[in-house]
Amino acid sequence: MKGKLVLDTRARVAKIDPRIFGSFIEHMGRAVYTGIYQPDSPYADEDGFRKDVIELVKQLNVPIVRYPGGNFVSGYNWEDGIGPVADRPKRLDLAWRTVETNEFGLHEFMKWAKKVDTDVAMAVNLGTRGIDAARHLVEYCNFDKGTYYSDLRRKNGAEKPFNVKTWCLGNEMDGPWQIGHKTADEYGRLAEETAKAMKLVDENIELIACGSSALDMPTFGSWESTVLEHTYDQVDYLSLHRYYGNRDNDTPNYLAQSLDMDDFITGVLAICDSIKARKHSKKTINLSFDEWNVWYHSDQQTADNQPWQIAPHLLEDIYNFEDALLVGTLLITLLKHADRVKIACLAQLVNVIAPIMTDENGAAWMQSIFFPFMQAAQYGQGTVLTQIQDSPVYSTKQFDQVPYLESLGILNDDETELTIFAVNRSDQESLELDLTVTDGFVIDHQLLATEFTGYGIKETNENGQMKLQNNDNVTLSRETAQATLKPLSWNVIRLA
Ligand code: AHR
Repeated sequence: MKGKLVLDTRARVAKIDPRIFGSFIEHMGRAVYTGIYQPDSPYADEDGFRKDVIELVKQLNVPIVRYPGGNFVSGYNWEDGIGPVADRPKRLDLAWRTVETNEFGLHEFMKWAKKVDTDVAMAVNLGTRGIDAARHLVEYCNFDKGTYYSDLRRKNGAEKPFNVKTWCLGNEMDGPWQIGHKTADEYGRLAEETAKAMKLVDENIELIACGSSALDMPTFGSWESTVLEHTYDQVDYLSLHRYYGNRDNDTPNYLAQSLDMDDFITGVLAICDSIKARKHSKKTINLSFDEWNVWYHSDQQTADNQPWQIAPHLLEDIYNFEDALLVGTLLITLLKHADRVKIACLAQLVNVIAPIMTDENGAAWMQSIFFPFMQAAQYGQGTVLTQIQDSPVYSTKQFDQVPYLESLGILNDDETELTIFAVNRSDQESLELDLTVTDGFVIDHQLLATEFTGYGIKETNENGQMKLQNNDNVTLSRETAQATLKPLSWNVIRLA
């Protein structure tokens, strides 16, 4: 099978906002407790953070982490997680029917984020709380000193402000499962007024309003319109959330789910821009795809769990090879929209639907999905190029015209290196990729050619056997390169 990718380094989609490789830590399951924080672990550092997890998070190159939820945030009092640990209350977390000890809170998270060298996207509670709690949290985090909340932060050990720039106005407020679930009008008004107050405390922050929690929500579309009618002038981004699963065990259809993500993004952009037109606004709302991943392997675990435990095993999906391939196509899809998708968060980061897993008594390990994410975040820096792609196609029960080839070209900032990400969705045939660069960019040598392939589609990485391999089947001439993309493979080719 043959495929073509034609690039012109003058034809550009957009510079990539590094925050497109963000992730997410929620107070749920074992994401925090025994995930990033486990003081009694042999891997713990002086602050109780797991060093093995810190190392893997650094390898993943995650530039921003959303915190503390998720559904959890809609019942959370941020004040419970500050001050002396002995004085912090134990609370019922109604979202996940768990006991939250609050041993880990805001200061601990900010310290951890600094250690892994990532920024924080902070979510405020617009379920059970509102304007006051949100504006106080901004003051606590970002105001220098001399006021009640800024001085409370200093008293609690952080002299300098945390300077959190990116803020989420609640979480999935369209979902009936959400604590404090609202209609679009109720949420839109609350988000508008909360945004105003938060920006009055710190005019430099950026705000994300909640879009739909999935493309198939019954209120999809009208929710976005109504929320933006209220919040357009106050917010900077609209959120999208979407999880995928291969419940019917239909791999060709599963690997085509990135087309669903593409539809979702295109649809939401159309709505954002229609509101812009209706308002005669000069401002453009961009997107924050701040929850995306595969989530379905752990469905039964969630159902079987007894309520009111501390840090139970929840949503611990063990990912297989086909999940990694899908994640590769989803990353390419997000990047194709780099002009409008500025933030995205792989949900989540540790133990809960995560690329990194821990064993309470043993070392952390990498799931299959770790590999494409790590490479995308490391090499997906620069400018996405407009492309002409030619590939044979197939049909599935959900999609027509699914290309076997999913590919993307990125030019680095000093315009000397070209990175290609490519997935071959075929389980039968190799794809002979013919890359042409049309504008005088001369291909001199290969910096890297790797493939992630050769595993059974249901194979997982619990034994640590998965690794990236070199792709020896790449040949170069001045303006072209040819590469063999093996059946079911994630590929990275870097040229200079
Ligand atoms: O990431 C797990 C959950 O999925 C989040 O708490 C929620 O926002 C979404 O429904």
